[in-house]
Amino acid sequence: MSDCKPTRHFAIAIDGPAASGKSTVARRLAERLGLIMINTGAMYRAIAWATIRKGVDAADPEAVKAMLAEIELSCGVNNGGSTILIDGMDPGEALRQDPVNARVSKVAAIPEVRELLVAKQREYLTLGSLVMEGRDIGSVVFPNTPYKLYIDASEEVRLARRSAEGLADVVSQRDAEDSKRKASPLMVAEGATVIDSSEMDIDEVVETALDTLRSQGLPA
Ligand code: CDP
Repeated sequence: MSDCKPTRHFAIAIDGPAASGKSTVARRLAERLGLIMINTGAMYRAIAWATIRKGVDAADPEAVKAMLAEIELSCGVNNGGSTILIDGMDPGEALRQDPVNARVSKVAAIPEVRELLVAKQREYLTLGSLVMEGRDIGSVVFPNTPYKLYIDASEEVRLARRSAEGLADVVSQRDAEDSKRKASPLMVAEGATVIDSSEMDIDEVVETALDTLRSQGLPA
């Protein structure tokens, strides 16, 4: 379904570059507001994980498209957050590890991958109101929502945050690939408010996000 259709449910769109803190903010907002939290990055990561399992070259769009027809992707909700199974399997911690980090922006640049996942993301709105985080939520998935944030932070801060999580990651490389791709590049969506979290702790970011959403019309 699309957010053009009348629905009593709404979506809060949170976009931003890698390791900007958007997942933490999205989770805290969802808890505070009693909404379902959808991590769309995990969906792209799951497709990257599937290419590894199937021995498919993530940089070969034709091979990835053929793989899409062969896998079963189940998107659900558990404990207020999104879940994803590929062929009945939960990829678990592998989603955040190096082999997936290295491939995810490549599969995310393939239009057919995006079409499949955007349709699943829109379907979540039938289950309830959402906080959805990613790269194209305010620009493509729910362009008509009035509630749009873009959480940013300096590259230096983002690299430090990711290594403080104990995770090696190719943050700068993914940002470059995500910003340059033709299909739904990372961008500040029309109507989105940018929050630069470089100098803020997480509580300050959450309070700023709530104030901003209220100024965008979110009921108190
Ligand atoms: O690690 P981080 O939280 O920064 O990234 P993520 O949200 O897990 O997203 C991983 C990758 O998925 C991104 O680098 C993008 O290539 C892709 N992605 C996307 O293209 N569109 C989205 N809505 C979400 C993620």
